[in-house]
Amino acid sequence: MRVLVTGGAGYIGSHTVLALVAAGHDVVVVDDFSNAKKAVVSRLEELAGRQIPVHAFDLTDAARTDELFATEQIDAVIHFAAFKAVGESVQKPAMYYRNNLDTTLSLVEAMQRHGVTRFVFSSSATVYGEHAPVPYQEDWDRLDSSNPYGQTKVMIERILTDVAAVDEAWRVALLRYFNPVGAHPSGRIGEDPTGTPNNLMPYLSQVAVGRREKLTIFGGDYPTADGTGERDYIHVEDLATGHVAALEHLDTMVTRTRAFNLGTGTGTSVLSLLRAFERAVGRELPYEIGPRRPGDLAVTYADPARAHAELGWRATRTIDDMCADTWRWQSQNPQGYPED
Ligand code: UD1
Repeated sequence: MRVLVTGGAGYIGSHTVLALVAAGHDVVVVDDFSNAKKAVVSRLEELAGRQIPVHAFDLTDAARTDELFATEQIDAVIHFAAFKAVGESVQKPAMYYRNNLDTTLSLVEAMQRHGVTRFVFSSSATVYGEHAPVPYQEDWDRLDSSNPYGQTKVMIERILTDVAAVDEAWRVALLRYFNPVGAHPSGRIGEDPTGTPNNLMPYLSQVAVGRREKLTIFGGDYPTADGTGERDYIHVEDLATGHVAALEHLDTMVTRTRAFNLGTGTGTSVLSLLRAFERAVGRELPYEIGPRRPGDLAVTYADPARAHAELGWRATRTIDDMCADTWRWQSQNPQGYPED
Protein backbone atom coordinates (compact mmCIF):
# COMPACT_ATOMS: atom_id res chain seq x y z
CA MET A 1 0.00 0.00 0.00
CA ARG A 2 0.99 3.62 -0.43
CA VAL A 3 0.64 5.03 3.08
CA LEU A 4 0.47 8.65 4.19
CA VAL A 5 2.21 8.95 7.57
CA THR A 6 1.33 12.21 9.32
CA GLY A 7 3.92 13.19 11.89
CA GLY A 8 6.30 10.81 10.13
CA ALA A 9 9.36 12.73 11.33
CA GLY A 10 8.34 12.34 14.99
CA TYR A 11 9.41 9.71 17.49
CA ILE A 12 6.89 6.93 16.84
CA GLY A 13 6.16 8.07 13.27
CA SER A 14 9.79 7.77 12.15
CA HIS A 15 10.14 4.22 13.50
CA THR A 16 6.86 3.29 11.83
CA VAL A 17 8.05 4.67 8.47
CA LEU A 18 10.96 2.21 8.58
CA ALA A 19 8.71 -0.70 9.61
CA LEU A 20 6.37 0.09 6.69
CA VAL A 21 9.24 0.19 4.20
CA ALA A 22 10.61 -3.08 5.61
CA ALA A 23 7.17 -4.67 5.10
CA GLY A 24 7.15 -3.58 1.44
CA HIS A 25 4.88 -0.54 1.62
CA ASP A 26 5.40 2.86 0.00
CA VAL A 27 5.45 5.81 2.35
CA VAL A 28 4.62 9.50 1.98
CA VAL A 29 5.36 11.68 5.01
CA VAL A 30 3.67 14.91 6.03
CA ASP A 31 5.14 16.79 8.99
CA ASP A 32 5.25 20.48 9.89
CA PHE A 33 8.55 20.02 11.80
CA SER A 34 7.19 21.99 14.76
CA ASN A 35 8.43 19.21 17.06
CA ALA A 36 10.87 17.32 14.81
CA LYS A 37 14.20 18.09 13.18
CA LYS A 38 14.89 17.98 9.44
CA ALA A 39 17.86 15.66 10.11
CA VAL A 40 15.39 12.86 10.78
CA VAL A 41 14.56 12.67 7.08
CA SER A 42 18.12 12.04 5.84
CA ARG A 43 18.59 9.39 8.54
CA LEU A 44 15.34 7.69 7.55
CA GLU A 45 16.44 7.66 3.92
CA GLU A 46 19.83 6.26 4.90
CA LEU A 47 18.20 3.45 6.95
CA ALA A 48 15.44 2.77 4.41
CA GLY A 49 17.91 2.79 1.51
CA ARG A 50 15.57 4.90 -0.58
CA GLN A 51 14.13 8.40 -0.92
CA ILE A 52 11.04 9.22 1.09
CA PRO A 53 8.67 11.93 -0.19
CA VAL A 54 8.20 14.51 2.57
CA HIS A 55 5.62 17.31 2.55
CA ALA A 56 6.42 20.01 5.10
CA PHE A 57 3.23 21.77 6.12
CA ASP A 58 0.66 21.99 8.90
CA LEU A 59 -2.42 19.78 8.42
CA THR A 60 -4.69 22.49 9.81
CA ASP A 61 -4.18 24.00 6.32
CA ALA A 62 -7.15 22.25 4.71
CA ALA A 63 -6.34 23.49 1.19
CA ARG A 64 -2.83 22.05 1.21
CA THR A 65 -4.08 18.84 2.78
CA ASP A 66 -6.58 18.46 -0.05
CA GLU A 67 -3.90 19.22 -2.63
CA LEU A 68 -1.70 16.49 -1.10
CA PHE A 69 -4.42 13.88 -1.69
CA ALA A 70 -4.95 15.26 -5.21
CA THR A 71 -1.28 14.87 -6.17
CA GLU A 72 -0.19 11.73 -4.26
CA GLN A 73 -1.95 8.40 -4.76
CA ILE A 74 -2.75 7.47 -1.13
CA ASP A 75 -4.30 4.12 -0.09
CA ALA A 76 -4.26 4.55 3.69
CA VAL A 77 -3.40 7.05 6.41
CA ILE A 78 -1.54 6.54 9.69
CA HIS A 79 -2.15 9.67 11.76
CA PHE A 80 0.49 10.56 14.37
CA ALA A 81 0.70 14.34 13.95
CA ALA A 82 -0.48 15.99 17.19
CA PHE A 83 0.54 18.04 20.18
CA LYS A 84 1.38 15.57 22.97
CA ALA A 85 2.67 17.25 26.13
CA VAL A 86 0.24 16.53 28.96
CA GLY A 87 1.33 19.42 31.23
CA GLU A 88 1.30 21.96 28.39
CA SER A 89 -2.20 20.81 27.41
CA VAL A 90 -3.44 21.72 30.90
CA GLN A 91 -1.94 25.22 30.51
CA LYS A 92 -3.07 25.73 26.88
CA PRO A 93 -6.24 23.68 26.43
CA ALA A 94 -7.68 25.71 23.53
CA MET A 95 -4.45 25.36 21.57
CA TYR A 96 -4.49 21.57 22.09
CA TYR A 97 -8.15 21.12 21.16
CA ARG A 98 -7.75 23.40 18.13
CA ASN A 99 -4.63 21.70 16.81
CA ASN A 100 -5.39 18.04 17.47
CA LEU A 101 -9.02 18.20 16.34
CA ASP A 102 -8.45 20.52 13.35
CA THR A 103 -5.63 18.44 11.87
CA THR A 104 -7.70 15.28 12.14
CA LEU A 105 -10.81 16.87 10.65
CA SER A 106 -8.97 18.38 7.73
CA LEU A 107 -7.41 14.97 7.09
CA VAL A 108 -10.74 13.15 7.33
CA GLU A 109 -12.50 15.61 5.01
CA ALA A 110 -9.71 15.37 2.43
CA MET A 111 -9.91 11.56 2.65
CA GLN A 112 -13.68 11.70 2.11
CA ARG A 113 -13.25 13.91 -0.98
CA HIS A 114 -10.61 11.62 -2.44
CA GLY A 115 -12.15 8.26 -1.54
CA VAL A 116 -9.46 7.15 0.93
CA THR A 117 -11.10 5.03 3.63
CA ARG A 118 -8.35 3.25 5.59
CA PHE A 119 -7.23 4.98 8.78
CA VAL A 120 -4.89 3.98 11.62
CA PHE A 121 -5.04 6.37 14.58
CA SER A 122 -2.39 7.07 17.15
CA SER A 123 -4.42 6.95 20.36
CA SER A 124 -3.26 6.44 23.92
CA ALA A 125 -3.94 4.37 27.03
CA THR A 126 -4.75 7.73 28.62
CA VAL A 127 -8.33 7.25 27.24
CA TYR A 128 -9.00 4.66 29.98
CA GLY A 129 -9.13 7.51 32.51
CA GLU A 130 -8.90 7.00 36.24
CA HIS A 131 -11.60 4.40 36.79
CA ALA A 132 -10.96 1.56 34.34
CA PRO A 133 -9.82 -1.68 36.01
CA VAL A 134 -6.24 -2.82 35.37
CA PRO A 135 -5.29 -4.53 33.09
CA TYR A 136 -7.04 -2.19 30.65
CA GLN A 137 -9.32 -3.86 28.11
CA GLU A 138 -10.58 -2.27 24.91
CA ASP A 139 -14.27 -2.76 25.59
CA TRP A 140 -14.22 -0.32 28.55
CA ASP A 141 -16.83 2.19 27.38
CA ARG A 142 -16.46 5.10 29.80
CA LEU A 143 -13.54 6.70 28.03
CA ASP A 144 -12.18 9.72 29.84
CA SER A 145 -8.91 11.48 30.56
CA SER A 146 -7.65 13.77 33.29
CA ASN A 147 -6.10 16.28 30.85
CA PRO A 148 -6.93 18.07 27.57
CA TYR A 149 -4.30 16.13 25.60
CA GLY A 150 -5.99 12.88 26.60
CA GLN A 151 -9.44 14.34 25.94
CA THR A 152 -8.41 15.08 22.34
CA LYS A 153 -7.64 11.35 21.97
CA VAL A 154 -11.07 10.44 23.40
CA MET A 155 -12.80 12.93 21.07
CA ILE A 156 -10.91 11.85 17.96
CA GLU A 157 -11.74 8.19 18.66
CA ARG A 158 -15.40 9.30 18.75
CA ILE A 159 -15.12 11.39 15.56
CA LEU A 160 -13.53 8.54 13.61
CA THR A 161 -16.14 6.08 14.89
CA ASP A 162 -18.95 8.40 13.75
CA VAL A 163 -17.34 9.01 10.35
CA ALA A 164 -16.99 5.26 9.74
CA ALA A 165 -20.55 4.62 10.92
CA VAL A 166 -22.03 6.44 7.91
CA ASP A 167 -19.73 5.04 5.20
CA GLU A 168 -19.46 1.30 4.84
CA ALA A 169 -16.14 1.59 3.00
CA TRP A 170 -14.32 3.02 6.05
CA ARG A 171 -12.09 0.94 8.31
CA VAL A 172 -10.44 2.53 11.34
CA ALA A 173 -7.96 1.03 13.81
CA LEU A 174 -7.62 2.97 17.08
CA LEU A 175 -4.24 2.06 18.56
CA ARG A 176 -3.97 2.74 22.28
CA TYR A 177 -0.31 2.90 23.18
CA PHE A 178 1.01 2.25 26.63
CA ASN A 179 4.45 3.79 27.42
CA PRO A 180 6.62 3.94 24.27
CA VAL A 181 10.38 3.85 24.92
CA GLY A 182 13.52 2.61 23.15
CA ALA A 183 15.01 3.53 19.80
CA HIS A 184 16.01 2.02 16.47
CA PRO A 185 18.81 -0.53 17.12
CA SER A 186 21.13 1.41 14.76
CA GLY A 187 21.18 4.32 17.23
CA ARG A 188 20.44 6.69 14.30
CA ILE A 189 16.85 7.59 15.22
CA GLY A 190 15.25 7.92 18.63
CA GLU A 191 13.30 10.20 20.95
CA ASP A 192 14.49 13.82 21.01
CA PRO A 193 12.17 15.85 23.25
CA THR A 194 12.23 19.64 23.12
CA GLY A 195 13.17 21.20 26.48
CA THR A 196 12.98 19.30 29.75
CA PRO A 197 11.57 15.80 29.17
CA ASN A 198 8.23 15.09 30.84
CA ASN A 199 8.45 11.34 30.51
CA LEU A 200 10.57 8.95 32.51
CA MET A 201 12.80 7.27 29.90
CA PRO A 202 14.04 10.40 28.09
CA TYR A 203 14.66 12.06 31.46
CA LEU A 204 16.63 9.06 32.68
CA SER A 205 18.73 8.89 29.53
CA GLN A 206 19.53 12.62 29.79
CA VAL A 207 20.70 12.03 33.38
CA ALA A 208 22.91 9.20 32.13
CA VAL A 209 24.45 11.36 29.40
CA GLY A 210 25.10 14.22 31.85
CA ARG A 211 22.47 16.71 30.66
CA ARG A 212 20.45 16.46 33.93
CA GLU A 213 21.78 16.19 37.45
CA LYS A 214 19.56 13.44 38.83
CA LEU A 215 16.27 11.64 38.38
CA THR A 216 13.46 12.54 40.74
CA ILE A 217 11.15 9.59 41.28
CA PHE A 218 7.60 10.89 41.63
CA GLY A 219 6.43 9.08 44.76
CA GLY A 220 7.88 6.18 46.76
CA ASP A 221 4.74 5.31 48.71
CA TYR A 222 2.48 3.75 46.08
CA PRO A 223 0.87 0.39 46.91
CA THR A 224 3.35 -1.49 44.69
CA ALA A 225 6.15 -3.95 45.50
CA ASP A 226 8.84 -1.23 45.80
CA GLY A 227 6.55 1.79 46.37
CA THR A 228 7.13 3.37 42.92
CA GLY A 229 4.61 3.61 40.07
CA GLU A 230 4.28 0.77 37.56
CA ARG A 231 3.80 1.25 33.80
CA ASP A 232 3.65 -0.93 30.71
CA TYR A 233 6.77 0.16 28.78
CA ILE A 234 6.77 -0.94 25.16
CA HIS A 235 9.66 -0.80 22.71
CA VAL A 236 8.98 1.69 19.89
CA GLU A 237 10.10 -0.99 17.40
CA ASP A 238 7.31 -3.28 18.64
CA LEU A 239 4.90 -0.36 18.43
CA ALA A 240 6.00 0.25 14.83
CA THR A 241 5.30 -3.34 13.76
CA GLY A 242 1.95 -3.06 15.58
CA HIS A 243 1.02 -0.27 13.15
CA VAL A 244 1.95 -2.38 10.15
CA ALA A 245 -0.12 -5.29 11.53
CA ALA A 246 -3.11 -2.99 12.10
CA LEU A 247 -2.81 -1.47 8.62
CA GLU A 248 -2.69 -4.88 6.97
CA HIS A 249 -5.65 -6.06 9.05
CA LEU A 250 -8.00 -3.20 8.07
CA ASP A 251 -9.45 -4.89 4.98
CA THR A 252 -10.48 -8.01 6.91
CA MET A 253 -11.82 -6.20 9.95
CA VAL A 254 -15.39 -7.22 10.73
CA THR A 255 -16.38 -3.96 12.38
CA ARG A 256 -15.67 -0.59 10.78
CA THR A 257 -13.85 0.71 13.84
CA ARG A 258 -11.80 -1.36 16.27
CA ALA A 259 -9.61 -0.35 19.23
CA PHE A 260 -6.42 -2.26 20.05
CA ASN A 261 -4.13 -1.96 23.05
CA LEU A 262 -0.47 -1.91 22.08
CA GLY A 263 1.33 -2.91 25.27
CA THR A 264 3.23 -5.85 26.70
CA GLY A 265 0.79 -6.78 29.46
CA THR A 266 3.42 -6.31 32.19
CA GLY A 267 3.98 -3.47 34.63
CA THR A 268 7.51 -2.30 35.49
CA SER A 269 8.22 0.03 38.41
CA VAL A 270 10.21 3.26 38.12
CA LEU A 271 12.95 1.74 40.33
CA SER A 272 13.12 -1.43 38.21
CA LEU A 273 13.42 0.65 35.05
CA LEU A 274 16.18 2.72 36.67
CA ARG A 275 18.05 -0.48 37.61
CA ALA A 276 17.69 -1.86 34.07
CA PHE A 277 18.96 1.42 32.63
CA GLU A 278 21.95 1.30 35.00
CA ARG A 279 22.74 -2.18 33.63
CA ALA A 280 22.65 -0.82 30.09
CA VAL A 281 24.90 2.14 30.95
CA GLY A 282 27.23 0.10 33.21
CA ARG A 283 27.16 2.43 36.21
CA GLU A 284 24.86 3.70 38.95
CA LEU A 285 22.77 6.81 38.25
CA PRO A 286 21.86 9.54 40.76
CA TYR A 287 18.24 9.74 41.92
CA GLU A 288 16.03 10.92 44.75
CA ILE A 289 12.51 10.06 45.81
CA GLY A 290 10.24 13.11 45.58
CA PRO A 291 6.52 13.74 46.03
CA ARG A 292 3.90 12.12 43.80
CA ARG A 293 3.08 13.92 40.53
CA PRO A 294 -0.56 15.07 40.52
CA GLY A 295 -2.71 12.97 38.19
CA ASP A 296 -0.42 9.91 38.22
CA LEU A 297 -1.93 6.48 38.83
CA ALA A 298 -0.15 3.77 40.84
CA VAL A 299 -0.28 0.98 38.26
CA THR A 300 -1.33 0.83 34.60
CA TYR A 301 -0.79 -1.96 32.10
CA ALA A 302 -2.48 -3.45 29.06
CA ASP A 303 -4.41 -6.57 28.39
CA PRO A 304 -2.80 -7.16 24.98
CA ALA A 305 -4.89 -10.26 24.12
CA ARG A 306 -7.04 -8.64 21.41
CA ALA A 307 -4.07 -7.38 19.36
CA HIS A 308 -2.55 -10.85 19.56
CA ALA A 309 -5.75 -12.69 18.61
CA GLU A 310 -6.89 -10.35 15.82
CA LEU A 311 -3.72 -8.70 14.49
CA GLY A 312 -1.39 -11.63 15.14
CA TRP A 313 0.91 -9.14 16.80
CA ARG A 314 2.65 -9.13 20.14
CA ALA A 315 5.48 -7.17 21.72
CA THR A 316 8.71 -9.19 21.91
CA ARG A 317 11.42 -6.80 23.18
CA THR A 318 12.39 -6.89 26.86
CA ILE A 319 13.00 -4.04 29.31
CA ASP A 320 16.74 -4.66 28.87
CA ASP A 321 16.36 -4.32 25.07
CA MET A 322 14.47 -1.03 25.60
CA CYS A 323 17.20 0.36 27.85
CA ALA A 324 20.10 -0.84 25.65
CA ASP A 325 18.57 0.72 22.52
CA THR A 326 17.66 3.97 24.28
CA TRP A 327 21.20 4.24 25.61
CA ARG A 328 22.77 3.54 22.22
CA TRP A 329 20.71 6.37 20.70
CA GLN A 330 21.36 8.79 23.58
CA SER A 331 25.08 8.10 23.89
CA GLN A 332 25.62 8.41 20.11
CA ASN A 333 23.48 11.59 19.99
CA PRO A 334 23.98 13.30 23.37
CA GLN A 335 22.22 16.49 22.20
CA GLY A 336 19.65 14.65 20.07
CA TYR A 337 19.47 15.38 16.35
CA PRO A 338 21.69 18.14 14.96
CA GLU A 339 20.00 21.53 14.55
CA ASP A 340 18.51 22.24 11.12
C1 UD1 B 1 2.28 10.16 30.47
C2 UD1 B 1 0.94 10.82 30.44
C3 UD1 B 1 0.07 10.12 29.45
C4 UD1 B 1 0.73 10.13 28.08
C5 UD1 B 1 2.13 9.53 28.17
C6 UD1 B 1 2.86 9.73 26.86
C7 UD1 B 1 0.58 11.86 32.65
C8 UD1 B 1 -0.19 11.79 33.91
N1 UD1 B 1 0.34 10.85 31.77
O1 UD1 B 1 2.12 8.82 30.93
O2 UD1 B 1 -1.19 10.75 29.36
O3 UD1 B 1 -0.04 9.40 27.15
O4 UD1 B 1 2.89 10.17 29.19
O5 UD1 B 1 4.05 9.04 26.85
O6 UD1 B 1 1.37 12.75 32.43
N2 UD1 B 1 8.28 9.42 36.56
C9 UD1 B 1 9.21 9.73 37.54
N3 UD1 B 1 10.09 10.76 37.30
C10 UD1 B 1 10.10 11.47 36.13
C11 UD1 B 1 9.15 11.14 35.13
C12 UD1 B 1 8.24 10.12 35.38
O7 UD1 B 1 9.25 9.11 38.59
O8 UD1 B 1 10.93 12.39 35.98
C13 UD1 B 1 7.36 8.29 36.79
C14 UD1 B 1 5.87 8.62 36.78
O9 UD1 B 1 5.42 9.01 38.05
C15 UD1 B 1 5.26 7.31 36.29
C16 UD1 B 1 6.35 6.73 35.38
O10 UD1 B 1 7.56 7.38 35.75
O11 UD1 B 1 5.09 6.41 37.36
C17 UD1 B 1 6.10 7.00 33.90
O12 UD1 B 1 5.86 8.38 33.70
P1 UD1 B 1 5.76 9.02 32.24
O13 UD1 B 1 6.91 8.55 31.42
O14 UD1 B 1 5.58 10.50 32.39
O15 UD1 B 1 4.46 8.35 31.61
P2 UD1 B 1 2.94 8.30 32.17
O16 UD1 B 1 2.74 9.22 33.30
O17 UD1 B 1 2.58 6.88 32.37
